Amino acid sequence: MKNFVVAIDGPAGAGKSTVAKIVAKKLKFLYVDTGAMYRALTLKAMKLGIPWNEKEKLIEMAKNTKIELLDNDKYRVLLDGEDVSEEIRKEEVSKNSDYVASILEIRQILWGKQRDFREKYNIVMEGRDIGSKVFPDAQLKIFLDASVEERAKRRYLQLKGMGIEINLEEIKKEIIKRDERDKNREIAPLIKSDDYYYIDTTNLTIEEVVEKIIKLYEKKKEERGN
Ligand code: C5P
Repeated sequence: MKNFVVAIDGPAGAGKSTVAKIVAKKLKFLYVDTGAMYRALTLKAMKLGIPWNEKEKLIEMAKNTKIELLDNDKYRVLLDGEDVSEEIRKEEVSKNSDYVASILEIRQILWGKQRDFREKYNIVMEGRDIGSKVFPDAQLKIFLDASVEERAKRRYLQLKGMGIEINLEEIKKEIIKRDERDKNREIAPLIKSDDYYYIDTTNLTIEEVVEKIIKLYEKKKEERGN
């Protein structure tokens, strides 16, 4: 029997990372943040100064890159052995990450790496295309969503907590832009098909969302008969 996959997809700022980490801990599954992989490649291209229209160079770079996601207490991200966990979260990287994410050959390289995790582990994997492209046969597919206002507010508070002052309206605009890009890109857009459980987190606490997912998991496990 194939290892269990909890696929968590949804737009930026819906709370995927926070929720997915807790769910993974509770189930004792491996947590995999696929956004971190796209971010790591984006950062590398920026450091190497590869222009975004040089597709072949970007693909070549992706082929020759080692990305490691450490599922320990701090969830470190290593890019060719170097810890880039903080650097990949910078606004510059967020803004540019759609370039590599829109190249099919690069996605295929990352899909391969992402699928490898299931060979050894039960996983909770978050991203935009986990239930649609990476694991269409995932045993549990969750679509996490929240209103644009709520997602902007959460991001605002998160940045404020980090000592970064930024205008709420600016964040809202940025989120709307990212939604557009995620939903409308030609390759692996963010889509919510019927096989997803849709959870609107706008008025829910983190604990409530986690509890819903755990309940759904238990139901699925029962159906599967183990
Ligand atoms: O989720 P996060 O904001 O870290 O994602 C970073 C970038 O990677 C975004 O541009 C997002 O669209 C892209 N991404 C993707 N497919 C995934 C995960 C993230 O295209 N499975």
